[in-house]
Amino acid sequence: MQIDAKLQEGIAAHREGDLQTALAAYKEVLTTDPDHADGLHFLGLLHFDAGKPENAIVLIRKSIEQNSKNASAYNNLGNILKLTDEQDQALEAYVRAVEIEPRHEEAWSNINVLLEGASNNDDLLPILTEIVRLDPDNPNAWHNFGLSLMLAGKRDEAADALERCLEFGADVWSDPVWHARVLCSLGRQDRAVGHLEKIVAANPDDTVARYQLAAVRGDTLDQAPEDYVKEHFDSFSESFDEVLRNLGYRAPELVASEVSELAEQKGTTYADVADLGCGTGLCGPLIRKHCDRLTGIDLSPGMLKKADALNVYDFLVEGELVGFLNSDLPTQFDLAVCVDTLCYLGDLQPFMQALFAALEPGGMLIASVEHLSDPTGPDYKVDPTGRYAHTPEYLKRSAETEGLSYTKEKPVVLRKELGKEVHGLIFHLSKPRKT
Ligand SMILES: C[S@@+](CC[C@H](N)C(=O)[O-])C[C@H]1O[C@@H](n2cnc3c(N)ncnc32)[C@H](O)[C@@H]1O
Repeated sequence: MQIDAKLQEGIAAHREGDLQTALAAYKEVLTTDPDHADGLHFLGLLHFDAGKPENAIVLIRKSIEQNSKNASAYNNLGNILKLTDEQDQALEAYVRAVEIEPRHEEAWSNINVLLEGASNNDDLLPILTEIVRLDPDNPNAWHNFGLSLMLAGKRDEAADALERCLEFGADVWSDPVWHARVLCSLGRQDRAVGHLEKIVAANPDDTVARYQLAAVRGDTLDQAPEDYVKEHFDSFSESFDEVLRNLGYRAPELVASEVSELAEQKGTTYADVADLGCGTGLCGPLIRKHCDRLTGIDLSPGMLKKADALNVYDFLVEGELVGFLNSDLPTQFDLAVCVDTLCYLGDLQPFMQALFAALEPGGMLIASVEHLSDPTGPDYKVDPTGRYAHTPEYLKRSAETEGLSYTKEKPVVLRKELGKEVHGLIFHLSKPRKT
């Protein structure tokens, strides 16, 4: 009884951030009973909070040796392993958590994040097969089972599992349009359209579902609507960095390395730099040293809040980037970067025109786009995820029409998505110097 009271005292202090009192209480518990499973677990969490993840892993593993049925300990172990880049071991720990407690929401959502960035999951599939068999009313189990089947290349079985997810209703999911989007890419367009039509009928103001429906139907749209972008990224802003890290997202690094190369050739910093669609600011810290003044612009207040917390931007502007470039700017930019943002604009002509006006003579843009590789097809195309890809021929033509030179193009892999590489291009534009 006394030992439990001491543990609770430690947990309460720990929650309030008083690590010293918590440490003293956990130590007292473990002095009385060195194998106390919860004592070891919480002392492990305390070590993690104190910046010692290796100690935390050892302690939580010891705790699990004492009580192998503690799903939360496995989930916490997974979180720490994930942060120390031990993705495979983290996945193993999360799976153990849901084997013990099949409705452990947090562990399922952690499995989901890891699976979205994984390239194979041969060990996991039999376990998930068993979990859906034992708990067939478990939405998270079906969702991750579907993902896992996709990674194994079993497209039809994956589509069956994901269709099953639709039966649980839209309210169950944090991203209610995800299944429709993926079903469409698995060839079940009719099912995806039917599902999205239902969501839109129930809530005609749902901008995300409306745009997703248009994208899945293949409607002709010149760009993603602003209210869609805003809502989508506001709701994604908290998890954006982590989700993208798990997808091996490299676009900011790739663009930043082009900036570094140019800055070195130039031998001086850029005076005024714009990060167009700066998002949470992943590119800012990587290019900051080459900029005297760095301005970020984005439609999503949620993303901008994250960028602001980095303290690397001199100015952050909430707004639409073409409108911003066309506005009465206090200065022209000698460099603009645009990372993974033109995929929300299909028709680039208004962007190119605005960019020309906003760049100073000799000014440059370095941007990434998703690569549409068929030169005989359309100039740009929206895919079921709602993102546009562009042909390099179109990038060049639309830039040159506005007087910009298309000076460099480089094929790259931007990230992984559902087991596949997403191919893109980094390209440079420059505005001619005055003659
Ligand atoms: C995929 S995120 C990329 C963010 C950041 N550049 C990065 O690489 O991490 C795309 C960002 O572009 C913003 N965005 C999309 N269309 C926009 C537009 N027309 N004007 C301003 N921001 C836009 C979104 O709000 C989102 O933050």
